[in-house]
Amino acid sequence: CPFNLQTDETSILRRENCRTKGGSSGFKVAILGAAGGIGQPLAMLMKMNPLVSVLHLYDVVNSPGVTADISHMDTSAVVRGFLGQQQLGSALTGMDLVIIPAGVPRKPGMTRDDLFNINAGIVKTLCEGIAKCCPHAIVNLISNPVNSTVPIAAEVFKKAGTYDPKRLLGVTMLDVVRANTVVAEVLGIDPREVDVPVIGGHAGITILPLLSQVKPPSSFTPQEINYLTDRIQNGGTEVVEAKAGAGSATLSMAYSAAKFADACLRGLKGDAGIVECAFVASEVIELPFFASKVRLGRTGVEEIYPLGPLNEYERMGLEKAKKELAASIAKGISFIRK
Ligand code: NAI
Repeated sequence: CPFNLQTDETSILRRENCRTKGGSSGFKVAILGAAGGIGQPLAMLMKMNPLVSVLHLYDVVNSPGVTADISHMDTSAVVRGFLGQQQLGSALTGMDLVIIPAGVPRKPGMTRDDLFNINAGIVKTLCEGIAKCCPHAIVNLISNPVNSTVPIAAEVFKKAGTYDPKRLLGVTMLDVVRANTVVAEVLGIDPREVDVPVIGGHAGITILPLLSQVKPPSSFTPQEINYLTDRIQNGGTEVVEAKAGAGSATLSMAYSAAKFADACLRGLKGDAGIVECAFVASEVIELPFFASKVRLGRTGVEEIYPLGPLNEYERMGLEKAKKELAASIAKGISFIRK
């Protein structure tokens, strides 16, 4: 039985009935790793999302406190908490969208790949639960190294016979959010007016902002291009160093994850023209997984857009990124296959 400190089970049912009668059904969303640095603010933001009717908060520690806290927010989503592996199945059953920020973050001096040994096993266990309890859910994978954890999740789902590449998305939204912010700073405009496609993957040189495709159309000097590319590729490290051992990006990541989850839910609802960048199974280049612009719809990723024209600088960046990306993808796949 999940614990619920918001209210008793009868009144939850009463509220769910009310909502059904009112005709405003929403989506059921689970956050795995909900008590963490990303998980907590993300839980708060998802509780504020009017498209969410039920919010399940799962973690191996501290989820009762987070659930009690979040449940006092006077928004309509019903919140339930789940603690420990034994409750994973209940946390996942019936979910439309599962967001995974579970795992350890970087400390200064670490690369995302240094997290592989711990996070690969965590992602494997959680995806086995998804395959069993909500095989049709959309999965938003945040745990690093994303370039390897997405292939791990795909292999787990293939083994279970539930793999649908349209429903598995590595979250690279923070790279786009950072790119929009720094490009807006350089252009001296509001970041909400800026759209920078960021392709490739989610680690160092695999993060490839396409500054030649920025909207509104803009041109940059070579110095600006070097500066912007460096800030976008190393934004995560900038935060890890500033936090000096206390973790990696959590607040900007929770914002980005909530923005991305909202796009997935609007797609599920049937809204048209929902386009975001994500790390997905792809055929846009020769690698089996790649981040690029995708259109989100009722079945998840409904279209993957071609990269569009790249300039010489971007083509060189892509060539450099491919080698690292290929190795990270292979590492994830072999973690499950071996
Ligand atoms: P954190 O350590 O603050 O929180 C992680 C949470 O996961 C903890 O509450 C922990 O108890 C939980 N957890 C550990 N094992 C679990 C399991 N087996 N099942 C469920 N929950 C489990 O870490 P933080 O800062 O929230 O980061 C989480 C992950 O997100 C890290 O891997 C980090 O590298 C990644 N990240 C990804 C970004 C992206 O752009 N995709 C950006 C920033 C971080």
